[in-house]
Amino acid sequence: MSAQILDGKVLAQKLQVELKAEVDMSRARTGKVPRFMNITIGQDPSAGSYGKSQKRAAEFIGIDYQFSNLSAHVSQKELIDHIHFLNDDVNVHGIMIHKPVPDGIDFQQAVNAITPKKDIEGMNIANLGRLMLGKTNIIPATPAAAMALLVSSGVDISGKDAVVVGRSEIVGKPIMLLLLEKNATVTVCHSGTSKAGRLADQVKKAEVLVVAMGKPGFIKGEWVRDGAIVIDVGINAVDGKIVGDVEFDGAAARASFITPVPGGVGPVTAVMLMKNGIETFKIQLQHP
Ligand SMILES: NC(=O)c1ccc[n+]([C@@H]2O[C@H](COP(=O)([O-])OP(=O)(O)OC[C@H]3O[C@@H](n4cnc5c(N)ncnc54)[C@H](OP(=O)(O)O)[C@@H]3O)[C@@H](O)[C@H]2O)c1
Repeated sequence: MSAQILDGKVLAQKLQVELKAEVDMSRARTGKVPRFMNITIGQDPSAGSYGKSQKRAAEFIGIDYQFSNLSAHVSQKELIDHIHFLNDDVNVHGIMIHKPVPDGIDFQQAVNAITPKKDIEGMNIANLGRLMLGKTNIIPATPAAAMALLVSSGVDISGKDAVVVGRSEIVGKPIMLLLLEKNATVTVCHSGTSKAGRLADQVKKAEVLVVAMGKPGFIKGEWVRDGAIVIDVGINAVDGKIVGDVEFDGAAARASFITPVPGGVGPVTAVMLMKNGIETFKIQLQHP
């Protein structure tokens, strides 16, 4: 088998056009557009690729996206005071905190200070709780992007054996929940699975394989089940090139669908963040 490519750039473009239509309609009806603040602490996010791709996606869609720059020496209390100030600003509809944050800043505590109705990353503890209950449209952007690519394959994953490699709060665990919502039978692998020498055996069972490890080419092509759908979330710089966590050529020879790296999950992620922000904007229009 030779896999069909799940092209993230194509999907991102399609989703951006849909979101732009939604924002255009809201502007015509209410005169308002979503406004987001990306809080940066001692960094220049416009120099980084994720900050740039967010800004580009926002501009295309018609979202007012700004960086709110704080000093590298800001204290946790000053950061939280700033978040409270943005929470109270009726002209700000979405707030996020750019990562990495300096040592001494407790990221999760800061995210929990963002009012859930402005938490566009979906990482506030209340939104993560709602995700667990299957009762939210605000879904962390990378897991949402992985799922959007999976859905774009057109394959019904209900009842399929899904394996997620990685269990981080930001990627692996939310993907596990989203796959469960789709009625897949989900196995989650992590470093303990590898230490026990069981990773390859688990991967071989996967009809749907989602990998988020941060280990270049760790998942070997020969482990991939014939006909599997492979979503590679990994982004790793190796010798000046960006590669995924899955050995692409070997996996593509066996899979039915596969995401490339770069050009797979990455481009869709920034658009999913914008989608979340449009959701928070709508919530605030209804409940100012
Ligand atoms: N495409 C995007 O938009 C996007 C966004 C975010 C992240 N990423 C990429 O996705 C990757 C994962 O990111 P992350 O934030 O989830 O990373 P992370 O927090 O470092 O988590 C990595 C996970 O992989 C597991 N792992 C590491 N080595 C393993 C091994 N040998 N065998 C089995 N499991 C192993 C870890 O297990 P333990 O829990 O046992 O330690 C952990 O759960 C990175 O390459 C990152 O750059 C991409």
